[in-house]
Amino acid sequence: MRRKLAAGNWKMNGLTAQLAEVEALCAAHPSPSVDLLIAPPATLVSSMVVTASDHALDVAGQDCHPESSGAHTGDISAEMLKDAGASHVILGHSERREDHNESDDIVRRKTRAALDAGLKVVICIGESLEEREAANTLDIIAGQLAGSLPDVLTGENTVIAYEPIWAIGTGKVPTLAQISEVHTFIRAKLEARYGEGVGRSIRLLYGGSVKPANASDIFAVPDVDGALVGGASLKAEDFSAIIKALENAA
Ligand code: PGA
Repeated sequence: MRRKLAAGNWKMNGLTAQLAEVEALCAAHPSPSVDLLIAPPATLVSSMVVTASDHALDVAGQDCHPESSGAHTGDISAEMLKDAGASHVILGHSERREDHNESDDIVRRKTRAALDAGLKVVICIGESLEEREAANTLDIIAGQLAGSLPDVLTGENTVIAYEPIWAIGTGKVPTLAQISEVHTFIRAKLEARYGEGVGRSIRLLYGGSVKPANASDIFAVPDVDGALVGGASLKAEDFSAIIKALENAA
C-alpha cells in the first residue's frame, strides 16, 4: 500500500511571517492520515523545520547542487539541506529545467547527490503544450524518466510528480483520462525498469493547478497517490481542503 502524500511547493514565495500559515495548517491536521510535505524557499527551511517540529509535516528543499560542496556561489548542496533539517528535495521542476537549463542528465546527478546525502527526492517530469498537441506526451515522459532517474532507487526514497507544464499556474487541468493515461504509463515504465516490487511502491503525484475544487476528482484517478501543489499550498485554508480531499480518497 502506498501512503498518500500532499506536497506543497512554495516556489519563490514566503517570508518569515508566512510561517503562520504552517502553524495554522499543523493545528488543523494534528494527526493526518496522509503524509504532508512543504518545500519553502531555502531561506525558510530551518525555521519551518522548527515550526513543524512537533507535527507530522516534513520540509523539503526545492533544488540542490549535484556536488556536495565547493566553489559554486549561490548554490546549496543536498548535505546542507539535510543539515538544515529537510527530509526531501524537489528536483527537475519544469521551472528549474526552463529557468536554469536543467537537463535530464543534471537532474539525475542531483538525484544521486540527494540520495547519497540521505534526502528523499520528488522528481518532476511533464510535457509542454506543444509536445502534448503534437501527441508526443508519452515519448517525452519516457525520455524524462529514463534520463532523470538513477539506476538505483526505492519507493521509500523516491516520489515522481507528473506535472504537465501547461497546467502549472494556469488554472488549466488535464482531463482525468489524460492524467490516468500518463500515470498508468509511468507506473508501467517504473515496473519495467526497477521490477514490480519497487515499481509499484514509488508514489506518483499529480501537479498543476490542483485546487480545493478539483482535488477530489483528481485523487479518484487510479495511480494518483497525491499532489504537488503550488499556489494553493500558500494558504493554510486551501492546502487544508486539498489534504482533506486526499484523506477522504485514501
Ligand atoms: P500550481 O503549481 O499548483 O501553482 O499550478 C504546481 C507546481 O509547480 O508544483
